Amino acid sequence: MSWLYLLDSFILLMAVPAHAEPRVDIDISSVKAQINPAMWGTFLEDINFAADGGLYAELVKNRSFEFPNATAGWTKVQKQRARGVISIRDTDPFEPKNPHYMRIEVSLAGEGFGIANEGFRGMGIREGQKYWFSVYARAPMGSISFRVEIVSQDGRVIAQAKVSGVDSQWKNYTCTIVPTQTCPKAKLNLLTTEKGLLDVDMVSLFPSDGTLSFEGRPIPRLRQDLVQMLAELKPGFFRFPGGCIVEGRDLDNRYQWKNTIGDINKRKLIISRWNNEFAHRYTPDYYQSFGLGFYEYFLLSEKLNAEPMPIINCGMACQFNTGQLVPMDELGPYVQDALDLIEFANGSVDSKWGKIRAELGHPEPFNLKMLGIGNEQWGPQYIGRYKVFVKAIKEKYPDIKLIAATGSDPAIFPNGYKEVEYLWSELRKLNAEIVDEHFYRPPEWFFENAYRYDDYDHNGPKIFIGEFATQSKGIARPDNRNNWYCSLAEAAFMIGLERNADLVIMACYAPLFAHIDAWQWTPDLIWFDNLKTYGTPNYYVQQLFSLNRGDKLLDVQTRQIPEPEGKKPLYMSACLDQKASEVIIKAVNSTGKNQLVTINLKSTQLSGKDVVAIVLSADSITAENSFEQPKKVYPKQVQFSVADESFEYNFEPYSLTVLRIPVSR
Ligand code: AHR
Repeated sequence: MSWLYLLDSFILLMAVPAHAEPRVDIDISSVKAQINPAMWGTFLEDINFAADGGLYAELVKNRSFEFPNATAGWTKVQKQRARGVISIRDTDPFEPKNPHYMRIEVSLAGEGFGIANEGFRGMGIREGQKYWFSVYARAPMGSISFRVEIVSQDGRVIAQAKVSGVDSQWKNYTCTIVPTQTCPKAKLNLLTTEKGLLDVDMVSLFPSDGTLSFEGRPIPRLRQDLVQMLAELKPGFFRFPGGCIVEGRDLDNRYQWKNTIGDINKRKLIISRWNNEFAHRYTPDYYQSFGLGFYEYFLLSEKLNAEPMPIINCGMACQFNTGQLVPMDELGPYVQDALDLIEFANGSVDSKWGKIRAELGHPEPFNLKMLGIGNEQWGPQYIGRYKVFVKAIKEKYPDIKLIAATGSDPAIFPNGYKEVEYLWSELRKLNAEIVDEHFYRPPEWFFENAYRYDDYDHNGPKIFIGEFATQSKGIARPDNRNNWYCSLAEAAFMIGLERNADLVIMACYAPLFAHIDAWQWTPDLIWFDNLKTYGTPNYYVQQLFSLNRGDKLLDVQTRQIPEPEGKKPLYMSACLDQKASEVIIKAVNSTGKNQLVTINLKSTQLSGKDVVAIVLSADSITAENSFEQPKKVYPKQVQFSVADESFEYNFEPYSLTVLRIPVSR
């Protein structure tokens, strides 16, 4: 077992001789369920600049000049005694699929004429780090040279390189540059001091540490610190690419996986559904370049050792937007996309799509096991389309598990509660395998619903909580906070999911990432700026669950734990980690008081090794992490010995505690 957290010697030993009356009995011979190894996962959607401007480490915004406003992100740079014009062209492009490029026409070179790119809210640049610059260029009127500069916020050139001998044919020119200074909001200049014409396209700048290697294969150009945050979550599954972006505001702008693989120069961008979704967080420069596409998502799943969980469009655009529908008799290509995706992931290298995967560098299958049919879909229109997908997929791939939608959070979509009842009754009739539920609610709802799944039918479809997050103020409100109380409510809810592990087989928080200057939705699990990142208290809750999953759910009987005002003070689950031979107890103390409890382990003996307690708590229930204090709410770890199988433990006020108790095999 590897522990991420340091032993905190300031936590006093909390095990004392057994006297307290409130008591918990855990019988390790009474196994209630197997816990899915992929139970706690993660969900990446390109919202809040999560992919473009975030995880996808490209620093140049609108690198291909294909935003509808083709000069967005670019400005003209005219140094002393320089004159010229810049214009967008599309005649004789280097890549017809993305035809626009920039023409820089220099009549007077002076000290430099050219263009600057502002990046995604600036470019995060690190001193000493190598950066890869790449551009497609030509000089229609004879050879020309230009220089590449990285310029800090205060106007200093902190890195530069020269590209010489650009001739009349489109060619790719590359160089590496190493900045002399760290800067959170730098920009990139392309300047020439020669008179003439210079055409440029696919202007690109990446940090060289953005390539991660998985068994020798590079994962193209991801932001290392954000991947590290994902890796430290140890997710059991990886859901992608959305969310509402799967559906699109209309069908033209839905996510089409085939447009996101292969030669990056041919990937066509589309508007992000989050660009103009919220007037209060309008983000007119939000487009999906698909530099991070399905192949990269599969590679990332593999790197994270997480089961890939793609979600596909089922012929319906977002029902919060246009709700556009593909007629039933025109659904064929959508179903084919799903079938081809499975072949792309799992097919042999002799199959059409398996061959494409192999050509991209991954002859081995990705071992895809599950697929989501639509995101937040509802109505008979969904059921009709879902049936068509299930029939076609099951005929060809009977082992692929299919995930069905139950709309959005029932509190927010039209007739939500009735709708969900309807969808559930239809999905039961159809023997759906896995049903996806979403919850964006206040903290009290999460505490109250820690028992929700106790009352569900445990013999029907399995449940996936595909999106959940506590909203401190209200759904999608910009003043929602990632505070400790909200995180604690999620922990109580997750204990309820674990207690029902025979029914609830997977869960993930949403959304995952948010750029501090470019978000649309809050709360979010991980915040970042151009150089830094931090995990919220919610992140550490997710992490504690996935690092302490266990494989066999145990029976927990609580006795005489007082419930002031009918509110549960302690939420508790227990499981066995067979490999480590440890009983894992998870407990949330939802009150401001200590909870002293006798823990009684039945049908086992202690191994003699120390018990480890990992405690997540905070000075105040409104505590939050931040760039300045990224670990204000952070797990502390302590070890202590207990003499026998019955011992007292004091659960701190407002805390999530994980106890790992070594037992004999
Ligand atoms: O997580 C943010 C959004 O919330 C998702 O895109 C959507 O599925 C849900 O409505």
